[in-house]
Amino acid sequence: MREADRRAALIPDPDLVRAAIYEREIQASLERVWENVHDWEHLPWLHSEAFSAIDLQEAGDWGWRATVAMGREARAEIELVTDPAAGHYVARTRAGAGAPSEIWTRLDPLAPHRTAIHVEFRVQPMPEDALRQLGQGYVSLYTLLWNQDEEMMRIREAALAERAGRSGGQGGEDGPETISLGSLALLRPKLPWVFGYGGHRFRLVEEGGELIAHAMECPHMLGPLGDCSVEDGILECPWHGYRFDIRSGESADGRSLRLRPAPRVTLDPETGEVIVSRHGSA
Ligand code: FES
Ligand SMILES: [Fe+2]
Repeated sequence: MREADRRAALIPDPDLVRAAIYEREIQASLERVWENVHDWEHLPWLHSEAFSAIDLQEAGDWGWRATVAMGREARAEIELVTDPAAGHYVARTRAGAGAPSEIWTRLDPLAPHRTAIHVEFRVQPMPEDALRQLGQGYVSLYTLLWNQDEEMMRIREAALAERAGRSGGQGGEDGPETISLGSLALLRPKLPWVFGYGGHRFRLVEEGGELIAHAMECPHMLGPLGDCSVEDGILECPWHGYRFDIRSGESADGRSLRLRPAPRVTLDPETGEVIVSRHGSA
């Protein structure tokens, strides 16, 4: 988007009226919130109740423009334009369901991990009752969306902090080469089972009769992989839907991303114990 268009997009449409205001605090840093605002890709995954698909037209440091599907039928052209210096952004529905409308959001950092948000929903003029009802609908939808976003941001912030701690020398890759997870007979009813190895957590699953360990963090944006179901050896990250082969760790949709290498899992034929060892070790 050209700078002149961006400036024009940051002027409220004077023909629209306020339907509602929504305010809350988010337990995440301003940086995380801006990252989330630019992250168009998570809409149909993290917010699958509200959005069913997204088709990006353009994105840049100014924001993004996309066609968004809601349910089976409804489509809307949405343009999100940011003004980081002024601490706000607008999501404008330009065509399709809900057009024309504007959702203006102001962000105020309160503390390193606390950000206040102030959202104003602006729509076409309509009778007062209808306006109030529409406003209430927006507020309940945005309560859900921001709850989901806040959880994502908090998990990501914690994962980033853990990673920084690790690279700062706390928590190591060291530890025994080989560990036992106990007897398969006792472990099997508890699968999937999460265990620590070499300073990281992995999840043990049984897939086609084979015991396989896989990383708990998505290599894209550190999304949590601990609750994903695995189908035909493929898991799907809940944040943006990227898919990975748990045997090889490779992307199952052609991306240059791969899961953190997981340790090898074998069964001791004499003791019946599940043994976890470094790849390549005997
Ligand atoms: S964090 Fe984006 S797909 Fe997993
Ligand atoms: Fe979101």
